[in-house]
Parts: sequence; structure tokens; C-alpha cells
Amino acid sequence: EDHRLPRIASAIRVIPDFPKPGIMFQDITTLLLDPKAFRDTIDMFVERYRDQEITIIAGVEARGFIFGPPIALAIGAKFVPMRKPKKLPGEVISEEYSLEYGTDRMEMHVGAVQPGDRALVIDDLIATGGTLSAAIRLLERVGAEVVECACVIELPELKGRERLGGTPLFVLVKAA
Ligand code: PRP
Ligand code: MG
Repeated sequence: EDHRLPRIASAIRVIPDFPKPGIMFQDITTLLLDPKAFRDTIDMFVERYRDQEITIIAGVEARGFIFGPPIALAIGAKFVPMRKPKKLPGEVISEEYSLEYGTDRMEMHVGAVQPGDRALVIDDLIATGGTLSAAIRLLERVGAEVVECACVIELPELKGRERLGGTPLFVLVKAA
């Protein structure tokens, strides 16, 4: 196991009963307060993806906007925001996904991603996998190849990985 992972894992703060009783919230804001651990997090993704001819880093609002852009700059890929509804000004395509109560929608600008693009989806965390699966659908609808999804944290008990179809998932930390 990589020597950088223990510091990354311990920089993530766990807040019990947020936003609701029984939820153990994985708080990455404390990781951002540790420049060494934040740097190591970005470096580990960059090392994995720099030679994979990735053309698009698709970052999921909001916390995928923190980790995605430094990776995109380091590997020379485009950054494409996957946004909450009605935020993007241009023409969009959208996908619904399920939340614990009800549904939400994710939007992407038409024309940002082209057939033949090789995309990597970045978010902070995978829980049920609904969010990442919507991002994968959007990218595949416009003809991109989704090479992988990458997150800092996985909650393995929720089996979100199984909702990603054939798309591989890479994570740094598995939360208990
Ligand atoms: C959280 C997290 C992931 C998503 C994972 O985002 O940042 O994006 O939930 O959940 P899932 O795997 O069950 O879909 P959230 O929707 O709370 O919003 P935020 O990133 O804007 O804070
Ligand atoms: Mg999120």
C-alpha cells in the first residue's frame, strides 16, 4: 500500500449524525487544510492517469470541482463541469438520478465533450453510485469513452460500485 494513504485517510474528518441522525459524514474540508495530504491526493491521481491519454476530466458539482481541476491541469486534459440543474448557460443535456428521497438532475454543456474523447469522472465520494452513474450516462450519450471513475472515498457497504456498469472505479480510501 502506498505510504501516502494513511495521512490522506486520517486527514478526512468524520462527523457523526450529519446531515441526519445515523449518517457518518465524510468531511474532506479537513483534507484541504493539510497541504501535504491534499498534494499527495492529487499526485496519486495524476500518477495513475498521466499516461492514459485522458482528454476530459469531468468533475461532479460541487466537490468534484475541488479535486478535478488540479488533475486536469497536471495531465493536460480539458475540465468539464457536471452541474446541478439550471446553472449552465448554454445548451445542455441532462440525466436524472435518484437520491434517498426523490430525484435530482445533472447537466453538461452540449459540445464540451466529443465522440472519441477519453473521459475520467472525478468526485470526492461514492455512496450509492447514483451520482457517478448519471455522469457516465451523460458522457456516453455524447460518444465519449469513460475510462474510469475516481474518488477520494468509497463507502463500500452501499455497493455503489455495482451501479457503474462496466466502468471501473478507483478510490484512495474505503470508509468503514
Ligand atoms: C455527495 C458526494 C457525491 C454524492 C455521492 O454530493 O459529494 O457527489 O453525494 O452520493 P451517491 O454515490 O449516493 O450518488 P452531494 O449530492 O451531497 O452534493 P455536493 O457535492 O454538492 O455537496
Ligand atoms: Mg457531491
